[in-house]
Formats: sequence, C-alpha cells, structure tokens
Amino acid sequence: MISYYGSKSKVIKYYPKPIHDLIIEPFAGSARYALEYFEKDVILIEKYETLYKIWKYLQQCSPKDILGLPKMKSGETTDDYNFDCIEAKWLMGFMVQQGVNAPRKTVSKVGNFGKCIERDKMRISSSLYKIKHWDIRLGDYRDLKNKKATWFIDPPYQYGGEYYHSSVNNSHLDFKELSKWCKKRRGQTIVCENTKANWMNFKPLKEMHGSKNTTTEAIWYKENNGI
Ligand SMILES: C[S@@+](CC[C@H](N)C(=O)[O-])C[C@H]1O[C@@H](n2cnc3c(N)ncnc32)[C@H](O)[C@@H]1O
Repeated sequence: MISYYGSKSKVIKYYPKPIHDLIIEPFAGSARYALEYFEKDVILIEKYETLYKIWKYLQQCSPKDILGLPKMKSGETTDDYNFDCIEAKWLMGFMVQQGVNAPRKTVSKVGNFGKCIERDKMRISSSLYKIKHWDIRLGDYRDLKNKKATWFIDPPYQYGGEYYHSSVNNSHLDFKELSKWCKKRRGQTIVCENTKANWMNFKPLKEMHGSKNTTTEAIWYKENNGI
C-alpha cells in the first residue's frame, strides 16, 4: 500500500507463515507481513502519527478516491495541487518518491516517475478491501495486550534504524527492554533485524543486495513459548 523506508516487501516470503488467526504488528510501518495474510484478524500499532493517519484514511476511502488523486509529472510538487484532506496529500507524498521515511513533495526525476505513480494508484485502489477489517491503532508497542497471536515484530533496526522520522527512530528504543518484551509474547513470535544487531540471538535469513551495499536480514523465531 505505502512505499516506506524499511518495508519488508522484498523479503516477506522468507518469514514463517502465520499459524494463528490473529496477526499483530507492533511496529506497523507499511505492514507488509499483515498485507501478505490480510484475511486474518490484524492488529497494527504505529507510533508515527502521519503514517497512522494515512492508514486510517486508506481504511475508509474508496478506489475512486485513490484513482482521483492528481496525475503528477516529474518535477511537480504536491503543493501545486489541492487535496480533499491532508492524509491524501501525505499518501501522495509517499508515491512521489519510493521507499522514503516521510512524505515528500517533489515527484522524482528518475525515469518516467509519473507512470510509476499511476501504477501505485491502481495497486492501492485494488487492495483497499484487504484492510477494511483491520484494527489500526496509534501508540507505542508496549500499549498492546499480550494476546495469543502471530507477532511480527519489526522495530527500527539497532544499526540502520536512525533514518526513521526523529520521533520514532531507534534512539527511542531500549533494546534490552524490547528483547525481554519479545520473549514474553504469547504464541508465534517473529523478530526482524539484520545480522549486525546483538540485542537478541538473531540468525541469518536472507542476503540483500542494495545499490550501495549488501546486508543480511536476520530473524529470531519462536513457534510457541508455552505461555
Ligand atoms: C522497520 S519499520 C516497520 C516496517 C514494516 N514491517 C513494513 O513492512 O513496512 C518500524 C516502524 O516502527 C515504528 N515505531 C518506532 N518506534 C515505535 C514504537 N515505540 N511503537 C510503535 N511503533 C514504533 C516506526 O515509525 C516505523 O514505522
């Protein structure tokens, strides 16, 4: 739905499949795991208010609303257009450039980006039905009750998580506390990181080749902790 920095879109198929009817993503971002298994019950919690408000907008809007967003071309900015609400403008701000940590204004000049935006609109509009039944909340991961569920825990990374919006980057996280919290979850627990992290006993999952460097996605996994 949302092209977001740190999205798990390229690796999602390497994680274990959910074994519970309820999926909880305590660090929602663009919630790629929940989207993969969208028919399940889903609880998302996200601390970055802009992103939370975009999710709530997507949950109540229609395909027509998305397809009716402005047809923007490279070099134009979202300030050049009128939007029905600020959330629609922010959503567009995640379409005008890919994989960003906050809404941008100017359409990327890379390739024919106008075409990419039109493709995004089609993809989003045809997926809106997937999230209608989700429970999407604004807050901190610690606000969640410890329900028996499939927990997909993908916090800002210990190394790399500094690039999120300043209100929600890794400097706010106490990784020792987070490690204890992860181990206490009831049900199936998947914790995401890369192999540089040392706050849990992470195992390599998949090597990722970026334009500048190679990183290895890592996982801490427990199918059932008996709680
Ligand atoms: C690595 S991203 C999640 C990416 C997501 N799995 C995806 O596929 O797009 C981490 C998210 O956690 C959010 N976040 C940071 N601190 C948080 C906290 N204390 N409680 C809840 N969410 C938080 C960030 O705003 C960010 O959206």
